[in-house]
Amino acid sequence: MGAYAGMGYKHLIDLNDFTMEEWKAIIDLALQMHQKPKDFLGLMHGKILGTLFYEPSTRTQMSFQTAMLRLGGQVIGFDNPQNSSVAKGENLKDTITIISNYADIIAIRHPVEGSAKAAAMHANCPIINAGDGGHLHPTQTLTDLVTLSIEKGRTDHLTIGLCGDLKYGRTVHSLISAMRRFPGNRFVLISTPELTVPQFVKDLIQESECTYTEISSLAEAIPHLDVLYMTRVQRERFASLKEYERLKSVYILDEAKMRLARPDLCVLHPLPRVDEIEIAVDNDPRALYFKQASYGVYARMALILKILTEGGETPLLSGCALDVPCSNSNCITRREPYIRPYYRENGNILTCEFCEHQQKRS
Ligand code: CP
Repeated sequence: MGAYAGMGYKHLIDLNDFTMEEWKAIIDLALQMHQKPKDFLGLMHGKILGTLFYEPSTRTQMSFQTAMLRLGGQVIGFDNPQNSSVAKGENLKDTITIISNYADIIAIRHPVEGSAKAAAMHANCPIINAGDGGHLHPTQTLTDLVTLSIEKGRTDHLTIGLCGDLKYGRTVHSLISAMRRFPGNRFVLISTPELTVPQFVKDLIQESECTYTEISSLAEAIPHLDVLYMTRVQRERFASLKEYERLKSVYILDEAKMRLARPDLCVLHPLPRVDEIEIAVDNDPRALYFKQASYGVYARMALILKILTEGGETPLLSGCALDVPCSNSNCITRREPYIRPYYRENGNILTCEFCEHQQKRS
């Protein structure tokens, strides 16, 4: 089967859907909005954002809503699918078909990997991925890029430590995927062997000019870092609660570890935090995670404005439809049977185009 080009909208499923020039333009716009927010009030008057949150969220949902309201638009949606017809068994395709005829743009968060791409295939408006299972969270990454641009003055030549749940942490996958495109970045992957990044993320680094090292000790890594990106161990993605309990508190950033760090370290966290950063660290001027969350409004204002004023088209599927089930049981192609699995083929390795899990062709 040939390429699936989508329905002619500019979506944000993966940040790599945008060129570096487009990223730069969105980041520059977000920086202008941060400097002079009043200049952008009302530009989206008459437009409607749909926020479809099939999974809990505080920052992403409300910063999207704040962004659209500050731009003069309006917001519809749900934050609990059990209060929508999803509770009656409505599938993703039908919900998206309906809402995309009500809204001008949709932000969707969903617990199943590849769901944002599947939504884009059936939408009559642009779709923004606000987090799809353990896969990607590109608008968090846009927020992180805006944060680094403001706080560090650059997004290149940085040594970035990522600590905690690197396996299920979709913010980690999206951030690495983006930062490897800037020259001179080095990744220090700080995790237990059970929670290291998936192979597709390591492959992304290896395909770039950036490098990575893996280490299990935060105390050993922290003195060498420009940026420390802490993450929560993602309880909701573990098959076994016992395994979660065993791994959940392995990494705790405290004042003693902060004393080992550079004076200009930038500590980020996508939040919410559980216990991986002690509250006492909040008072350290290097702790920037609350500022980071506030910059998310500017990142999302810039994104909405760019997509709705400039348009464009995002190709969605380029590989082959095969009657081979994806090996990831949390892939949207396994949950919504009308969606055929598409794969990119490399020798006998098949990479799912929805969730990016790899499997050998049998
Ligand atoms: N960073 C982030 O995605 O936070 P929420 O889950 O609260 O949206």
